[in-house]
Amino acid sequence: PASADFIRSLPKAELHLHIEGSLEPEQMFDFARRNRVDLPFRTVEEVRAAYAFTNLQDFLDIYYQGAQVLRTEEDFHDLAMAYFRRLAADGGVHAEISFDPQTHTDRGIPFQVVADGLLAGMAAAERELGVTSRLILCYLRHLDEESAFATLRAAEPYLDRITGVGLDSSEVGNPPSKFARVFQASRERGLKLVAHAGEEGPPDYVWQALDILGVDRLDHGNRALEDADLTRRLVDQGTTLTVCPLSNLKLCVVPSLEAHPLRRMLDLGLKATVNADDPAYFGGYLLDNYARVAAALGLDRAQLARLARNSITGSFLDAAAQAPHL
Ligand code: ADE
Ligand code: ZN
Repeated sequence: PASADFIRSLPKAELHLHIEGSLEPEQMFDFARRNRVDLPFRTVEEVRAAYAFTNLQDFLDIYYQGAQVLRTEEDFHDLAMAYFRRLAADGGVHAEISFDPQTHTDRGIPFQVVADGLLAGMAAAERELGVTSRLILCYLRHLDEESAFATLRAAEPYLDRITGVGLDSSEVGNPPSKFARVFQASRERGLKLVAHAGEEGPPDYVWQALDILGVDRLDHGNRALEDADLTRRLVDQGTTLTVCPLSNLKLCVVPSLEAHPLRRMLDLGLKATVNADDPAYFGGYLLDNYARVAAALGLDRAQLARLARNSITGSFLDAAAQAPHL
């Protein structure tokens, strides 16, 4: 089996990472203390014990609660920088990190505080670690279209520093079609488009992400495999799928890593990548995701190199910026 050292040595980009999902329990207590926020937990062990999920919503409830400790520009800077240090240690060279502005603006934290903090962390990571990054603004799909439009308006002064928009949160019952207009408006502003689809939702939601939203990349996409025509479409288009093995395991999208569809995706010719999603909640960062799914599925070095290469070519870096990593 491929060693962790081999995987670490591959230049890799992380394309599906919620920065709020990198909040480690220790950090949650630090931020709660410095911001005088009350937590319903007394110890790190109690927090970790609460991370037993049976579905996406179980996780989201606790993830939005955890995010309440984030209040200042410094918090967002420190959160991002801690993530980038781990990414660099895993041999990551680039990250396209998502953030959920509505989680913060809805509790009175200004958009600017969040964006300025994250952008400062991204600049520091490039300076100090040599890790490049891009920012993806995610609309929360459990909220309405007007709230998404308000978020796009709040982001207006930052659009030169935001690469794309995404769609996350509770999938079932909140189809991509609900956000057709705000995605169109986002596209008109020159933003790249991604969306979570086919994590828990049906293949029809993946069709909608492609045909109604016109996404440039698909987050998850697992359930696309249930539809042969859809699978063929994704192969023919060369759509990058940002797959998250440990997330799928913890949210019971798959019963075991041995049953994960990643190997099948590669065999079918889909452009799959490996990502951590919410590493502090799902028990592993980028390298753990590669190593554990590789061990479970028996992926060889060529397949791992393919996954790493897909992450670079599937990124929103231009060809000149990709070249040193290929
Ligand atoms: N927000 C953070 N992680 C998510 C996931 N895996 N699916 C949907 N929304 C999310
Ligand atoms: Zn996600």
